[in-house]
Amino acid sequence: MRCLIQLLLLPLVANAAPITETAALTLLKEKCAACHSGANKSSDFSIESPAQIIAGGKKLGRAIAPGHPSQSPLIQLLKGTLNPRMPLGGELSATEIATVEAWIQSLPPEPAPATQTEWRWPYEKPLKHTPPAVRNTAWPRNEIDRFILAKMESANIAPAPPAPKRTLARRLYLDLTGLPPSPEELDQFLNDQSPNATERLIDRLLASPRYGERWGRHWLDLARYAETSGLEGDGAIGNVWRYRDWVIDAFNSNMPYDKFVLQQIGGGDEHSKTRNNYAPDVQGHIPTAFLRVAPWDRSNLVAAEVRSNYQAEVTTATASVFLGLTVGCARCHDHKYDPIPQKDFYRFQAFFNATQADRGLDVPYKDPAMKEQAEAESNGWKLN
Ligand code: HEC
Ligand code: HEC
Repeated sequence: MRCLIQLLLLPLVANAAPITETAALTLLKEKCAACHSGANKSSDFSIESPAQIIAGGKKLGRAIAPGHPSQSPLIQLLKGTLNPRMPLGGELSATEIATVEAWIQSLPPEPAPATQTEWRWPYEKPLKHTPPAVRNTAWPRNEIDRFILAKMESANIAPAPPAPKRTLARRLYLDLTGLPPSPEELDQFLNDQSPNATERLIDRLLASPRYGERWGRHWLDLARYAETSGLEGDGAIGNVWRYRDWVIDAFNSNMPYDKFVLQQIGGGDEHSKTRNNYAPDVQGHIPTAFLRVAPWDRSNLVAAEVRSNYQAEVTTATASVFLGLTVGCARCHDHKYDPIPQKDFYRFQAFFNATQADRGLDVPYKDPAMKEQAEAESNGWKLN
């Protein structure tokens, strides 16, 4: 009868705990609260909430392994396979124990904690692996293909046939320039019967100024490029397009990556590696806009706080972009699993402590005609 009433009531209390949980909690309250309530917490164990029950007491630690009744110390205590049997001085009936077991069974099991080897992989030195053996030896054109094919073969998937020339051209254009080919450009490629027609097309596209615009954009996304400061006020950063153009030029001129990194963080050129030899070209200030495009709260009048937020942002962004490692949580505490202590966050941040980002620098234009055009377009905005 009671079951029937509960069933009838069920639709009316759609948000209430499921029946198994309600039954188990009611039972535990009745049998254990005398010694394990908020007011009387024997052995630091309380049955007041599911979270507290799972957390357990001071002696055994976690009392419940969600989803696994037999591995739960609480069940072992109820059955007497762990001592002293609970409830102290009494015993639950088999049906009552089954009620608690059903609840534990219904709890979603927790993911196994990452093992040492699982979470350490980002810090391991990459190893060269021998390419795996494949059945279809005709398909791979290089070693990377063999890794891909081996996985496909293990899943019984055959590679797609080679793309027709027209499709290939569209893919290459869209990948490298972000634009489809014009009918003339397409014809030029379709009519090119030479065996290296594809290589020639790729070279042409890599040489196109559109290439830097297309691929520079991905970098600008990483560098959190924006033409306003974000947050309250969201003021314009009127000259920041010069950084945008620098990035596009860097891609188009095939700038080596080490130089690309050095210029954005250090603002210098190859000479800056040796401090005594440091004579940067003033144009070298432009790439350091990477350090300036941080969000900036103009409405916050507490200068020290603005400065601290700025430095934390630059530290976090630099680590994410150049190391592929998010360190932001260590601004306030050691990372819980990765080996990133708070101390390292501030040691890293110290590099940026010399950065004064809010002084508008008058970097001259290489091309005087550009200056006039820029001034007309920028409408009086300054880098600030
Ligand atoms: C009469 C008091 C009393 C009642 C009733 C009682 N317990 Fe206990 N419980 C204790 C005491 C005392 C301890 C500490 C035992 C020890 O030190 O080994 C304890 C320990 C525990 C622990 C281990 C806590 C730790 O330190 O890790 C669990 C789990 C537990 N009880 C569950 C229950 C459950 C479930 C019930 C009800 C079914 C219950 N107890 C009823 C007195 C009681
Ligand atoms: C602005 C400061 C700040 C940042 C940034 C921060 N935390 Fe925390 N975090 C705290 C504080 C303060 C506590 C302690 C809260 C308390 O004791 O109740 C805390 C507690 C925690 C806890 C619980 C610790 C425990 O032992 O129970 C975890 C987990 C955690 N943070 C993870 C993170 C992660 C992950 C990030 C980054 C995504 C992060 N935190 C970023 C300030 C921060």
